[in-house]
Amino acid sequence: MKSLSLKVQQLEESQTLVLTALARQMRDAGQDVISLTAGEPDFPTPPHVKMAAIQAIEENFTHYTPNCGIAELLKAIVEKFKRDNNLHFEPSQILVSCGAKHSIFNALQAICNKGDEVVLASPYWVSYPEMVKLVDAKPVIVQTTPETNFKITPVQLKRAINAKTKAFIFNTPCNPTGSVYSQGEIEELADVIADTGIYVISDEIYEKVIYDGVKHFSIGAIKQIKDHVITVNGVSKAYAMTGWRIGYLGAPKAVAEAAAKVQSQITSNATSIAQRAAVVALTAPSNDTDAMVAEFKRRRDFVAEQLSKISGIELQIPKGAFYLFPSVKAFVGKRVDDKLIKDDMDMSHFLLQEEQLAVVPGSAFGAKNYLRLSYAASMKELEKAVQRLQSGLKKLREGY
Ligand SMILES: Cc1ncc(COP(=O)(O)O)c(C=O)c1O
Repeated sequence: MKSLSLKVQQLEESQTLVLTALARQMRDAGQDVISLTAGEPDFPTPPHVKMAAIQAIEENFTHYTPNCGIAELLKAIVEKFKRDNNLHFEPSQILVSCGAKHSIFNALQAICNKGDEVVLASPYWVSYPEMVKLVDAKPVIVQTTPETNFKITPVQLKRAINAKTKAFIFNTPCNPTGSVYSQGEIEELADVIADTGIYVISDEIYEKVIYDGVKHFSIGAIKQIKDHVITVNGVSKAYAMTGWRIGYLGAPKAVAEAAAKVQSQITSNATSIAQRAAVVALTAPSNDTDAMVAEFKRRRDFVAEQLSKISGIELQIPKGAFYLFPSVKAFVGKRVDDKLIKDDMDMSHFLLQEEQLAVVPGSAFGAKNYLRLSYAASMKELEKAVQRLQSGLKKLREGY
């Protein structure tokens, strides 16, 4: 057999998926595993959204649609961007795709050439560096620290940009840290970007999952740079619609057209039925989202408070998304039953084997010796999960 492509051989396997698969195997074998690995709301899609899809099927709305999306959805997205984000697009600047993940990949395909550099802040969402590699560009990773709440500073961004830089991928609220950039912080980053002409791919998928009265601000609303910002969003997280696969971007016309050309040769339109459901999600009152976010906040507060009682854990309270991202550095280098825990990977495997608790190692997001705990799980599961974490870390603390 001939070899597989070099590109694929160089692609990282997602550690999120490795641990999720292991946890599933253990569960299938009858073990009582609790998983805090989920990257999706544990709520059902709201009934009015489901009804729109059922109606679409009954009306035989089951064929190809225009490549960029149906007119009603483009209109709903234009209005959403205006209402929520102070972004002003024509329908021709919108491209609907099979999830925000697909939107980001289309955008990268549209703008990157071999050898271009794309700047990302670490901790980052697992797919960014791999997508950049898939378009033959080079990810340039800027390490942020807890001292700046894991936010890239203007000085760091400026230092990372050079003549080869094509784009900066920006994510607020951030997966995995839950950090949210303020308008002032975003304006400072925009000042750096304005002089360079690079593109910004602004991933705003967690926009609605935000707490403590903090406001989401879209970098594309800044006049100086609006003509090179590609804003990405979708219905997955805000409306518990991960399986429906609807994401979208709003971009300068030439970029939107280029991204649409890529999509037209690869997938064509996103699912017709899901597009009709997305129209309803984006235009109906936000009661379901508000209730979901209130529940996420209650869970965040509970788990954060429990973690604060575990000596050795360091945690920033996240202002958005549904993850906690504690440092477990204090437990690295410990031994239990002769087993050395040399990093966060070992710790995740230890917690799974010893306590039947699945979490994602921070290394998957470019941050060694952190763990990502998703609180998209019921309170009952979270209570058990916290007890298991306490028990596992106690064993490590008392190890040698
Ligand atoms: C930061 C971030 N961006 C994009 C996505 C992709 O979302 P979608 O389901 O719309 O493809 C995710 C999903 O986990 C995410 O965490």
